[in-house]
Amino acid sequence: MNIVLYGPPGVGKTTVGKALAEKMGREFIDSDPLIENLAGRSIPHIFSQLGEAEFRRLETKVCAELAARQGAIIALGGGALMNPGNRAAMERSGLVVCLRANPDELLARTAEQKRPLLAGDDRAHKLAALLKLRRALYDSFPIQLDTTGKSIEQVGSEVEALFVVRRLTVNAPGLKHDILLGYGLLETLTEVLAANGLVGPTVVVTDENVARQSPISNLQSPISILPAGEEHKTLSTIGRLYDEFLKRGLDRNGIVIAVGGGVIGDMAGFAAATFMRGVRWVNVPTTLLAIVDASLGGKTGVDLPQGKNLVGAFHPPALVISDPLVLRTLPQAERVSGMAEVIKNGVIGDAALFEWIENAPKSGDLGLRLDWLQRAIEVKVRVVEADPFEKGARAILNLGHTIGHGVEAASKFKLRHGESVAIGMVAESRLAERLGLAESGLAERIARVCTKVGLPVNCSGLNPDRIREAMSSDKKKAGGALKFALPKRIGEVVCGVEVEEGILRETLEAITA
Ligand SMILES: NC(=O)c1ccc[n+]([C@@H]2O[C@H](COP(=O)([O-])OP(=O)(O)OC[C@H]3O[C@@H](n4cnc5c(N)ncnc54)[C@H](O)[C@@H]3O)[C@@H](O)[C@H]2O)c1
Repeated sequence: MNIVLYGPPGVGKTTVGKALAEKMGREFIDSDPLIENLAGRSIPHIFSQLGEAEFRRLETKVCAELAARQGAIIALGGGALMNPGNRAAMERSGLVVCLRANPDELLARTAEQKRPLLAGDDRAHKLAALLKLRRALYDSFPIQLDTTGKSIEQVGSEVEALFVVRRLTVNAPGLKHDILLGYGLLETLTEVLAANGLVGPTVVVTDENVARQSPISNLQSPISILPAGEEHKTLSTIGRLYDEFLKRGLDRNGIVIAVGGGVIGDMAGFAAATFMRGVRWVNVPTTLLAIVDASLGGKTGVDLPQGKNLVGAFHPPALVISDPLVLRTLPQAERVSGMAEVIKNGVIGDAALFEWIENAPKSGDLGLRLDWLQRAIEVKVRVVEADPFEKGARAILNLGHTIGHGVEAASKFKLRHGESVAIGMVAESRLAERLGLAESGLAERIARVCTKVGLPVNCSGLNPDRIREAMSSDKKKAGGALKFALPKRIGEVVCGVEVEEGILRETLEAITA
């Protein structure tokens, strides 16, 4: 994994990059000298003699070369990622950290330098125009670091801190295990397993979509590739897994490694829970939903024709290994859908997480933020610790799910799980306001954040009766009556609320109008 430093001219990509490379023991590569080598002249001369178009052509060539490197710290010119092809290549090769600084500081830092785009008189004006032109581009990178007023060492330390692997623990009797969260963990999966004492015969379980991506191509273990999709989360697939485990010689010392979304985690975990009365397993979640939700809590299982998740077991993984970089290959719609669970975790237990999302610039790559992921994971871990075996307090996690499940089923699963949860979360917040439980404006606030990340908040055209019917067949209803988890304010939810049928009906009519 490369660390790519990007941002406006003068922000300190080269100086910080050099210092950081020395600190982290990595190779440092600056794109500008490579371009100068190719052209046989300096950057100002390329601009004045060959023109900006030729400079950009050479820059693209250099980006392609740099993207093929591994483990380097790369400083890129401020315009290099305006080209979508360059951006895609660099983002595939590692993590782009966008450094920022206020215009005065950028002017001061470039005062003595020869920058073709800032040459001549009126540098302040030229810089302002350049920043205006590129603001949306710079804003679009999920990892931002403001360098204003900071020393090179300080910026270097802050970049380095982004790459420190975080270890979280689920501290519940019978479910205790660790979660590792960090960029690039998948590249070194074999070493990570060994360092955590996970040695023995292994079988990797994944699905056909994940198998096509690079993350597992460097694993030495035998790989069992299952068809992708909820429709395959069945006992017959589990039977197939048992056959594969036996064929691959997995014994009671064996380790099953699930690399995939929630479907693969649930199935591989269930197969591990039951094969030879239980073998160890490691969960490597590869969807946003799986990182912040499905991989946490030790629940494993499969669906029956009569309903979802009707057969299962509590069987905690020996370790969860979460590397947000896997999300780069996840289709955008799946990432957006996963954001519903991140937002939900903010609403149920972390107001600061919710506010971070609320105040962040709009970005297509929200799931890449390690700090957000950590906070979202911590919310679920706290809930699991309070109620490891789902006797009551885990009901808080149902926020948005009671109506959400009805919406998902009524749409015949055309709406994704997260999309339905977003619709459910906003509808249930409206219910809470109507019942006088929630502060006024809460539903609107949650709706704004959902809309901002690309989630729907209503489902015009769906039949409210269908939604209501599907809600009744949800296995989470207790003693015949629907019980809601409803928000009071951001960060606080009340559970076990019963809602009068007429009010519920009006809410469902409002979201389907
Ligand atoms: N055990 C629990 O506590 C728990 C909690 C919540 C949800 N779940 C379960 O999780 C499942 C949903 O999980 P999901 O949303 O992750 O769905 P999923 O596993 O079906 O993955 C979604 C899609 O993304 C693909 N994919 C996964 N990772 C990819 C990657 N990195 N790059 C490209 N494609 C990738 C998959 O092949 C699939 O097509 C449901 O079965 C649900 O019941 C379990």
